[in-house]
Amino acid sequence: MAKPKTQFICQNCGAVHPRWAGRCDACGAWNTIIEDNPAAGIGGGPARAPKKGRPVALVALDGESEEAPRVESRIAELDRVTGGGFVRGSAVLVGGDPGIGKSTLLMQAAAALSRQGHRVIYVSGEEAIAQVRLRAKRLGASDTAVLLAAETNVEDILATLAEGQRPDLVIIDSIQTLWSDMAEAAPGTVTQVRTGVQAMIRFAKQTGAAMVLVGHVTKEGQIAGPRVVEHMVDAVLYFEGERGHHYRILRTVKNRFGATDEIGVFEMSDIGLREVANPSELFLGERNDKAPGAAVFAGMEGTRPVLVEVQALVAPTSLGTPRRAVVGWDSSRLSMILAVLEAHCGVRLGNHDVYLNIAGGYRISEPAADLAVAAALISSLAGLALPADCVYFGEVSLSGAIRPVSHAAQRLKEALKLGFSGACLPAGSAEVATQKTGGLNELSALPDLVVRIAG
Ligand code: TYD
Ligand code: MG
Repeated sequence: MAKPKTQFICQNCGAVHPRWAGRCDACGAWNTIIEDNPAAGIGGGPARAPKKGRPVALVALDGESEEAPRVESRIAELDRVTGGGFVRGSAVLVGGDPGIGKSTLLMQAAAALSRQGHRVIYVSGEEAIAQVRLRAKRLGASDTAVLLAAETNVEDILATLAEGQRPDLVIIDSIQTLWSDMAEAAPGTVTQVRTGVQAMIRFAKQTGAAMVLVGHVTKEGQIAGPRVVEHMVDAVLYFEGERGHHYRILRTVKNRFGATDEIGVFEMSDIGLREVANPSELFLGERNDKAPGAAVFAGMEGTRPVLVEVQALVAPTSLGTPRRAVVGWDSSRLSMILAVLEAHCGVRLGNHDVYLNIAGGYRISEPAADLAVAAALISSLAGLALPADCVYFGEVSLSGAIRPVSHAAQRLKEALKLGFSGACLPAGSAEVATQKTGGLNELSALPDLVVRIAG
């Protein structure tokens, strides 16, 4: 028999290398490559006769539903992120740092679904039944009919799930604890995680259950991260938040049944996660609007507008090379704004340290925040507070022009709703907003709305 070929697989991204290396070329992670044998022991079994399939029409026939059948949790923030509920027969991956609150969120989702009469099985590979029960009690979920199982072996889990009634929703917490008799690799390796996830997806497809898979984001790469199975599942959600802050954001990264870029916002409490229906109020809650260096950015997260405060501190430096520190935004984007301010506006910050922070530990990825950042920087340098009733958005180009951004009307509406009466925005966006709202109907209804057009 031929000697089985060994391969070296990066436990962070799943890239295959012919030999061991300290650093993975594909993802740049250090110390994540370990010997792993993807072919060993998978498959086998008796040969299967081919089954004849039949291609079907692209357009659904009369009587066939075009909508994906869903199980709704009626937790609005969760349903928004999944695109209207978990889809039957599909698999969703919920990733996040250890301790961020994934198990809490899913236990609450399980309880909510169970209250609506859905059959939910929560398979915990990390905690014993007693621990899960204790959590459920704390979350006020112990009166529900959620079924618990503490298993880690894939074949055992499948046998448990096949027993009794068909579940509507299965939660596997977490994929890193899964191990299968069919794969000859150590538990937690890419091979084991992939084999386990594959088996769970197959179960979901066969039975029509919605499958939720929990995956820890790992820093050291000793166990495989959720990224190695992202391509296998139908939707990927990340649960994120800063450790020191009390709110958490569930973000869609991939969704075959809905929009990406959606977020659900939750607030942590001793009795579990609470929905935050209006995140802008939360992010602007502790605002001191008289301080220099603060600008309110009217941002968008998927279909939803979110207002956050951008804070800048510009101070003379005592170092040879001035410091640039950014939390919640892209540091190369900050360098770009600084360069544009210097080249086109004559604002010299070469002898100043620059610190930039997005309030509340929130993270912005939109280029539309450029204008708010520029405003905050200038305000801090000048030592003058910006008008407290004004929001900012717009992309700054390298030529110094302010470029239009999408969803201007929605951003303005949200600002109005929260009591702002002014906006600093690109000229192009203002025109679009005017058309969209039918001649700034809602907007001009408020006589004191000052739309200051930057351009
Ligand atoms: P847990 O759900 O176990 O995190 P994960 O499954 O992602 O590792 O939550 C971590 C800890 O935080 C746990 O001790 C419970 C606590 N916690 C709260 O007290 N309230 C909350 O609202 C959340 C989300 C967590
Ligand atoms: Mg957990």
